[in-house]
Amino acid sequence: MIQLHDKTFVPFISEKSIATAVKKLAQEIADDIKGEIPLFIGVLNGAFMVVSDLMKVYPGDCEVSFVKMASYKGTTTTGKVSELIGINENLEGRTVILIEDIVDTGNTLEFLHNIFSQQKIKTLKTATLFFKPEAYRKDLKIDYKGIEIPNKFIVGYGLDYDGLGRNLPEVYQLKN
Ligand code: IMP
Ligand code: MG
Repeated sequence: MIQLHDKTFVPFISEKSIATAVKKLAQEIADDIKGEIPLFIGVLNGAFMVVSDLMKVYPGDCEVSFVKMASYKGTTTTGKVSELIGINENLEGRTVILIEDIVDTGNTLEFLHNIFSQQKIKTLKTATLFFKPEAYRKDLKIDYKGIEIPNKFIVGYGLDYDGLGRNLPEVYQLKN
């Protein structure tokens, strides 16, 4: 068990299971986009760890960039999404893979997808390491999903509770 601020968390997904899921994601993307050189666009802050590990096991040439938005506080999503910063490269003709650490309601991913859809991208795909099917409220199809989890708050492997927990190499779940 670990304690972050006022909350207790219990071990949930091991480092090894995460590594396996990340490798599978990388392979799935590579198989799907064949010959193309993908530009991975990670959503900060949460996705920094998955993007880093995914690139290291990606079987081919790839590029990386990051975007950032602020929409999430505490243990419930606010439902509103503000602004996007960080994209200045020309995406025309590129194969872009948006990478999220976790998709909960889908608000963030849908917002990003709408923004990127306005550019002349050749292929736009979405990927997430963790997915909460019971919380997802959008029609947008997520192309690559790592691990499906129940609708409970998690921390670790990039994910935080009020700033803490991102550095944990494994994932913990909020204790009841
Ligand atoms: P959504 O917009 O509701 O899909 O929420 C997506 C964002 O909320 C993610 O990129 C995370 O930053 C954050 N988030 C959602 N669920 C969790 C969780 O269980 N732990 C930590 N952060 C979360
Ligand atoms: Mg995030």
